Amino acid sequence: MSKSKTRKVGFTETVLRDANQSLIATRLPYSKFEPILETMDKAGYYSAEVWGGATFDVCLRYLQEDPWERLRKIRKKMPNTKLQMLLRGQNILGYKHYPDDVVRKFVEYSIKNGIDIIRIFDALNDARNLEVAIDETVKRGGHASGTICFTTSPVHTLEKNVQMVKDLKSMGVKSICIKDMAGIMGPKESYDLVSAIKDAVPELPLVIHTHCTTGLAFMTCLKGVEAGADVIDTAISPMSGGTAQPATETLAYALRSLGYQVDLDDKVLIKMADFFKGVRADFIKDGTLDPISMATDTQCLNYQIPGGMLSNLISQLKMMNAIDKLDQALAETPKVRADLGYPPLVTPTSQMVGSQAVQNVLAGERYKVVGKEIKAYCRGEYGRTPAPIDPAIQKKILGDTPVVKGRFADSLEPEFEKTKKELGATAKCDEDVLSYIAFPQVAMAFFKDREAGFPKKADPAKKASAPAAPRQEDLPPMPAWQGHVYYANVPASAANGMTSRPIQPFAASYQPPHLVMGARDNCPGTYTITIDGKAYAVSVAAADGSAPTVAAPVAAAAPVAAPAPAPAPAAAPALAPAPAAAPAPAAPAAGETPVPSPMPGNVFKVECKPGQAVKAGDVLVVLEAMKMEIEVTAPVDGTVKSVSAAVGTAVNTDDLLVTLG
Ligand code: CO
Repeated sequence: MSKSKTRKVGFTETVLRDANQSLIATRLPYSKFEPILETMDKAGYYSAEVWGGATFDVCLRYLQEDPWERLRKIRKKMPNTKLQMLLRGQNILGYKHYPDDVVRKFVEYSIKNGIDIIRIFDALNDARNLEVAIDETVKRGGHASGTICFTTSPVHTLEKNVQMVKDLKSMGVKSICIKDMAGIMGPKESYDLVSAIKDAVPELPLVIHTHCTTGLAFMTCLKGVEAGADVIDTAISPMSGGTAQPATETLAYALRSLGYQVDLDDKVLIKMADFFKGVRADFIKDGTLDPISMATDTQCLNYQIPGGMLSNLISQLKMMNAIDKLDQALAETPKVRADLGYPPLVTPTSQMVGSQAVQNVLAGERYKVVGKEIKAYCRGEYGRTPAPIDPAIQKKILGDTPVVKGRFADSLEPEFEKTKKELGATAKCDEDVLSYIAFPQVAMAFFKDREAGFPKKADPAKKASAPAAPRQEDLPPMPAWQGHVYYANVPASAANGMTSRPIQPFAASYQPPHLVMGARDNCPGTYTITIDGKAYAVSVAAADGSAPTVAAPVAAAAPVAAPAPAPAPAAAPALAPAPAAAPAPAAPAAGETPVPSPMPGNVFKVECKPGQAVKAGDVLVVLEAMKMEIEVTAPVDGTVKSVSAAVGTAVNTDDLLVTLG
């Protein structure tokens, strides 16, 4: 492909997926953007990214929308534009590996329901995790866009990236995307990488996807186009910038003035911008669009870690009252990443590396405390790491646990037909089965709500309409809110991104039902929280050290039975009381071995009973901390004398969990 300036540059509009996800936590409901779809269809985009990523989960979890139905509706309103989705390869739209039959079904139904282009990536850039999704996309007549997650490290060389592109080409992709999820690819890296890829596979269209987080994005796109990139991802101006993509109109203007051909209709873009100005205003008003998301944050260029990961690190440390350890944690992060073979820092590896760095610092010993996810990563369950994991550290983490040989998904049993049978009439169609496989608890709650006619659709707050429950609009505004809501007993995926989000007075529906609320700063007030269909009045005390209280359930308009998902702790209280510290360890009697908590966290599971014989290394208690499950094991062989840990309670470092006799 020629690099001449008369070359055409295509645009992928991200407003409905990535910009929506990056700026307003994917909270844009279909009803709100429906009026603009027919206009958008006339803009002349190369494609519109409208589905996948977090949209699927959020539709089911918060918006009471069937994501498949959303896709069909968009397809109907936009017959002339190629619809695009983002798929995490073997992880589909979640974080775990799914068996091949599920991946194939998901691709099949995505295309059947209206998707044209599937952008497929893997957090580790392990092409083996992409091949099934690519193969099925090609088989179903879709356009598979093979994706490289951009990252920098001593092992991520141009040659390695070019090799991956060649592998993707041989798998049948119709285009290549460079995905810079953190906005850390600068104009030089963009120019060099695009040039190298274009030299290797000139026939494949090349797309640049980046974020404005660090302010580099416009330059990155421009230099990428100069080097031969064919398509850039942009967002209509009111929903652009900050953590989202650069503005569509700005790049269209700049590229045209430089002599490139841009087939966008400016009049349509103006209509779209007017429309989304209103959308933006609404989300600013209700607090969903945080001004911080719109700002330029160059700090992550210094640390070479994604902005989202940095803010996550800071908030996790604050929650653990250890913000003074931030410098240590920041210094530890690149070391952990090197130990683990330089994974690209993208969900979920970014959370895993960040959490491990914090644990290494807080525990005072590296890899003394290791999350379940890191163990799985070291076993090879996530795929091949870019460089080998440090063998000594792998040994320390795994002990004698064997490492996965080959491709992890090969060891997984087919799941689709089995699940379909189990669900029976609960699933109305194959799409329901896929929703359930992707997000079991969330989908089950959604099915039940759907059956009941979505009683809380208009306004979740209205559900708590009993006299005792405060109405959301009666709650005092809290512009200076500094508090945190945090969760106990919530799997990492459910709590993802939520653990430290500053909240406003809110009404929300969360799954699963174990929620602990803590007053960290000055955040007094009364809140309505709807969990599993029950409304709870929650009072949060002022920052004088007094504990937040959790009131009894108030009138439940439509109680929904918990679907009893597999990982739910059996004995957990429906609503845990305010975190109470476990008893401080008394001096152990002779012959007793106290097992203290290695770090602050919440007790997620208790895996032992008094009187039970245990061997050194057996799991006694599982803590949930830093969005990860931490297994606390028996240091010696013995018998469980007493269990001090109670599911749902908060523990600090050195709090007694179990005593072995
Ligand atoms: Co993105």
